[in-house]
Amino acid sequence: MAILSSRVNQSDQKRSNSAKISNSSSEIENGLEKPEYLSRPKSLDQFIGQEKLKFFLKICINASRLRKDALDHILFFGQPGLGKTTLALVLAKEMGVNCKVTSAPNLERPRDIIGLLMNLKEGEILFIDEIHCLKRVTEEILYSAMEDFYIDLTVGANRGTRIRRVNLPKFTLVGATTKLGSISSPLRDRFGICQKIDPYSINDLEKIINQFGKSFGLNFTENAIYQLASRSRGTPRIAIHLLKRVRDFAMVMANNLNINEKLVNEALEQQQIDAKGLDLSSIQFLTFILNNYDGGPVGLETIAAGLGEESSMIESVIEPYLLQLGFLSRTSRGRVLTKSGRNYILGK
Ligand SMILES: Nc1ncnc2c1ncn2[C@@H]1O[C@H](COP(=O)(O)OP(=O)(O)OP(=O)(O)O)[C@@H](O)[C@H]1O
Ligand SMILES: [Mg+2]
Repeated sequence: MAILSSRVNQSDQKRSNSAKISNSSSEIENGLEKPEYLSRPKSLDQFIGQEKLKFFLKICINASRLRKDALDHILFFGQPGLGKTTLALVLAKEMGVNCKVTSAPNLERPRDIIGLLMNLKEGEILFIDEIHCLKRVTEEILYSAMEDFYIDLTVGANRGTRIRRVNLPKFTLVGATTKLGSISSPLRDRFGICQKIDPYSINDLEKIINQFGKSFGLNFTENAIYQLASRSRGTPRIAIHLLKRVRDFAMVMANNLNINEKLVNEALEQQQIDAKGLDLSSIQFLTFILNNYDGGPVGLETIAAGLGEESSMIESVIEPYLLQLGFLSRTSRGRVLTKSGRNYILGK
């Protein structure tokens, strides 16, 4: 049951919400570097890679259009920078509806989510990023809103308190998370569609780099694009960041926008990013396990203390890509370098 005092000042509520919500169509787009924004996918066909997921979403979109109904609630999960937010905005464009964008840490008080829900229109998409961070009370308000499209408000004060049921238009909640395991099962179960976004192949990253690079006015050789893609850790956001650093390097060191393999290597070596896209902290992590614990097993806390890093940072930032590369395994006795992880460090 949701709690909202009838005395909540409506204009205060609107003001507090407007600071935290963006409408996909205008506010998000302003303030963005133009060439980069222009290369952002605006339709599922422009969204590179994730073919199976796109095919599945196209079926859902077409079916909803045929039924003239809102899309079912969708939960996207996967590592940072893989395109969850982008996909939510693309879905809204494909459905021809508005998308209200917010993030769970912004929804502190019950009235934050209530204000948002009550302002939704039929078929609109509400996108909540980092949905695993929702407060319990906010989450409980979402239960009835998602399942039966109503919220219960407690109105009045003291003895005059009563419950007023407010029906909501049929909307679509799109949630995104990097931590699926941290979402409670009642919330997770209310998403009709729950889809993982996987890291991208080098081939797909090459296409993304090409798309963004063109909008930056860069001229690439094929090898240069390949070098960038193979150091992007399967992640479009990293690919775009590396691309920008290489663009800076070309502008300053070569005084032009021509990017070849040699220039990419020089620029990324200068950033201490190696041929597989490992940065200094990942190399230090692997070297620490190899040199001090003969490749493990060793506990996460011990590694964190040895490196002077937060264990949560190691777990969420350093380890996922090393696991993906097959350089590391997590066992019940601690972290262990695999044969290829060991060989990689010994070969350096
Ligand atoms: N498939 C894709 N095709 C083209 N560009 C992409 C694709 N996926 C992501 N991008 C680009 O990569 C960048 C990061 O994407 P986005 O912000 O959607 O990631 P995210 O998964 O929401 O990350 P986070 O978990 O940090 O919120 C954006 O600039 C986006 O345009
Ligand atoms: Mg996002």
